[in-house]
Amino acid sequence: MVTRTVDLRSDTVTKPTEAMRAAMANAEVDDDVLGSDPTAYRFEAEMARIMGKEAALFVPSGTMGNLISVLVHCEVRGCEVILGDNSHIHIYENGGISTIGNVHTRTVKNNPDGTMDLALIESAIRDPLGELYYPTTTLICLENTHANCGGRSLSVEYTDKVGELAKKHGLKLHIDGARIFNASVALGVPLHRLVQAADSISVCLSKGLGAPVGSVIVGSKTFISKAKRLRKTLGGGMRQVGILCAAAFVALQENVSKLEGDHRKAKFLADGLNQIKGLKVDTASVETNMVFFDVLEGSNIIVDKLCKILEDHGILIMPVSSSSIRIVLHHQISESDAQYTLSCIQKAVLQIQAETSGKGEVDVGI
Ligand SMILES: Cc1ncc(COP(=O)(O)O)c(C=O)c1O
Repeated sequence: MVTRTVDLRSDTVTKPTEAMRAAMANAEVDDDVLGSDPTAYRFEAEMARIMGKEAALFVPSGTMGNLISVLVHCEVRGCEVILGDNSHIHIYENGGISTIGNVHTRTVKNNPDGTMDLALIESAIRDPLGELYYPTTTLICLENTHANCGGRSLSVEYTDKVGELAKKHGLKLHIDGARIFNASVALGVPLHRLVQAADSISVCLSKGLGAPVGSVIVGSKTFISKAKRLRKTLGGGMRQVGILCAAAFVALQENVSKLEGDHRKAKFLADGLNQIKGLKVDTASVETNMVFFDVLEGSNIIVDKLCKILEDHGILIMPVSSSSIRIVLHHQISESDAQYTLSCIQKAVLQIQAETSGKGEVDVGI
């Protein structure tokens, strides 16, 4: 029987704390679609202040935040957006910017650190002289931290350079900042400075920050007033949304200071996993709350089997391929959970290796 659950599938799995539940129960609310929910109003103002932008808008999800942002920037038919080929918007958002927004995409290779080479971005920008044939490059999107690149942070220097490039060509810059708080903490750079070069940022509240639901987009007042119309169009106007904003307020107050600990625990796990024979982690790439580890060829470790044994012992992790697994830390994973996880993975690997080397069913006592 499982006596302990350690859920490392994602930082989206956190449960609202007692303080969040109390804040939700007591939230002062009204109809936000009519513009009169006081808690939503205060929360959006606070997020705009933190991010150093004029205005903010609460939206149901990061996916909707990115979709609305791209659509606001790409108002005219034939717009094209430059995106990382490994970016969340490109891979995991159902192609919404194309299917719903009619926006054409042009991908640029993401480097392992989540950046795209500046020269490649520049060469992907369409020559306006060819406007009779080409789509019109309108927007560049960055992702910080970059989830598929191991949660790595894009530096403020890099972000500024992309911003300069965008300006030089009359383009806008959007940041998918689902985990921008993690990046700010890891880099030691205040949020408003980190995103200074961006015209818009989408920030998830329900990831590392641990709020139950929601994202916020920030930008200029004009950007946000257009975003508000699109949010309504997409069905994201949510009436007494102050209930959700109240929980997000608590997340801001209680959980930002815990992100550093999440990063420390990720490093601890990465170092420990790298010591296990048959597993490999690029420990230098573990900068925030994500750890991707590989199963080495010839190690006889089968990813699905490893995940199943761990699941039977209450440890939930996410396979990303037949040779790679992802672990994500969040504020509800304690140091003892991290230690327990490492020791269970050590034992599970030994168990699989013993079984595949012909010793039959082996119980190494997880
Ligand atoms: C980098 C990134 N952007 C956007 C999203 C989308 O957020 P949501 O799941 O709230 O739609 C995610 C979700 O995992 C993400 O990791």
